[in-house]
Amino acid sequence: MSAIVAKIAPKDFNKEELDILNKAAKVIVNGGTVVFPTETVYGLGANALSSSSAQKIYKAKGRPSDNPLIVHISDYEMLELIATNISDDARILMNKFWPGPLTLIFDKKDIVPSDTTGGLNTVAVRMPSHKVALELIRLAKLPIAAPSANISTRPSITSSTYALREMADRVDMIILSDDCEIGLESTVCDMTGIPVVLRPGKISQREIFEVIAKDETHLQKLYAELENITNKVEESDDGIKGPKSPGMKYRHYSPEAKLLIAKKGEGLRVLNEVIAQNDLIKVKVFCLQKDAKLYGDRAEVIGITLEDVGKNIFTKLRQMDDNQVDLIICEVLEGNTPSEKDMAKAIMNRLIKASSNK
Ligand code: TXA
Ligand code: MG
Repeated sequence: MSAIVAKIAPKDFNKEELDILNKAAKVIVNGGTVVFPTETVYGLGANALSSSSAQKIYKAKGRPSDNPLIVHISDYEMLELIATNISDDARILMNKFWPGPLTLIFDKKDIVPSDTTGGLNTVAVRMPSHKVALELIRLAKLPIAAPSANISTRPSITSSTYALREMADRVDMIILSDDCEIGLESTVCDMTGIPVVLRPGKISQREIFEVIAKDETHLQKLYAELENITNKVEESDDGIKGPKSPGMKYRHYSPEAKLLIAKKGEGLRVLNEVIAQNDLIKVKVFCLQKDAKLYGDRAEVIGITLEDVGKNIFTKLRQMDDNQVDLIICEVLEGNTPSEKDMAKAIMNRLIKASSNK
């Protein structure tokens, strides 16, 4: 099988582009699979209300079928169709962050097949802001289930080059566009109790609490409840404490190259140690531009700011494999301001997963 491929810029669509989107919508309605861009990462979409369509997604990705999919919607009628027990807090968050990189977990309605939710009674829902994604869902008139469009265990895809290379033989149609603006997958937030972030992203637990808290006392109460929930969850083998989405238990984001996370300030020492042991090994050090001179020709600049790093990180991991790099070293990323710290946390969440050999 070879997919139909088309490219669309995320601006007002002309007639030809609308024809392409209509064609893609038809593929979805007829039970097929379409790779499409979102503001976070590329998605591999199919009809969220059809078991056989959901199964095609798992097959195309080689993904375990107990790892639930995110359902993408273009309006609030679709939300009411698939989810129930939607709290006032959820409404506040949707008002503030949708369309955008926030996925909310609700109790599901029966119309959503358990194949879409990996057997769970809850459903993850997101209204993306990318024009192509929104228009595709709108034209299909159906919620679209879409995990990240990478083969399972591999880094997510944020550029047209890799979307095409990885998915051309696995899906019915591919819509390409500019590089994804955010580059990290959406924040996944459980809304079945107090809002608890299961997968960090551009929107943080801090921002979510600040948006829903009525006053300082309420904010402190929310943090205390979160602490309580976090303490009840056993530390898992990835060393990260707290509740997580089911998907986070799987091997994830892994390049072929080995990825070593060094403590802050120890990148150079680790590099020198590695070279002393074996100077034939091809090593790159992921770093911010300001640190590049430390590592000479082994520096691989992944951004000027942490926001750039978020945008570039998956493409950088993939480029290292294209360049047959054996080992990537990356110092722990930290931020100074609260929003930089949040971004660093979301990026490190991916890098720690990518560095594990499970
Ligand atoms: O930005 C994104 O979220 C992208 C784009 C395409 O929208 N999608 C994406 O999907 O990253 P995926 O399948 O790669 O990651 C979905 C995550 C997984 O960790 C999964 O376990 C979690 O969301 N998830 C989905 N449904 C859930 C549910 N009902 N309860 C808890 N976690 C859920
Ligand atoms: Mg994924």
